[in-house]
Amino acid sequence: MDALKEKIHAVGRVLSEDVLKVDSFLNHQIDPLLMKQVGEEFANRFSDEVITKVLTIESSGIAPSTFLGLTIGAPVVFARKKKSLTLTNNTYTSQVYSFTKQETNDISVSRDFLSADDNVIIIDDFLANGEAVKGLVDIVNQSGAHLVGVGIVIEKGFQQGGKILREQGLRIESLARIKSLKDGKVEFFEEGEF
Ligand code: G4P
Ligand code: NA
Ligand code: NA
Repeated sequence: MDALKEKIHAVGRVLSEDVLKVDSFLNHQIDPLLMKQVGEEFANRFSDEVITKVLTIESSGIAPSTFLGLTIGAPVVFARKKKSLTLTNNTYTSQVYSFTKQETNDISVSRDFLSADDNVIIIDDFLANGEAVKGLVDIVNQSGAHLVGVGIVIEKGFQQGGKILREQGLRIESLARIKSLKDGKVEFFEEGEF
């Protein structure tokens, strides 16, 4: 997706060989016009599917997911990372291991908002090691819903998440796939290149 790649080149900051900072449009401040285009691009790529629910994880998955939900007219559910007062035992729960933080956290979704009748798409801002997506897939499986695929805003293609999930047969659509962050520069894979 050209507008996204141009934005990354213009304002993304390479913090190290494996971390890209995109706080100015995705992870802290949101660029609504770009997120609207992102939502429309996800809708286009999955236009062959009937989607009844968009599933993501707080916090940075919410903005792109909401624009996809707006475009296709489907509700957006975000997994909670912390147990809230009102989130009772009526939940699907999974564990997400963070390599960065070296800790495992529970994520939860209320059974009220996901069921066997749903056709679900999973959306997230970044795909690195794929742990967050794995946790969301586990939740979809617990609910008995059908998973149509996964939409990712920025995939770090030099990390293992995308490879592992695709080998499991999941359909993954990434709008920008980074080949390398070496020498302080962002290099993208071409469309269809692996
Ligand atoms: P992973 O194993 O699931 O790939 O996640 P990891 O622990 O590596 O990453 C933890 C958090 O950092 C996640 O957000 C993930 O989206 C984000 N992340 C991973 N790589 C990058 C990167 O290169 N740049 C940026 N900006 N973020 C990255 P989170 O903690 O769930 O936070 P949020 O959703 O509230 O933003
Ligand atoms: Na995220
Ligand atoms: Na994040």
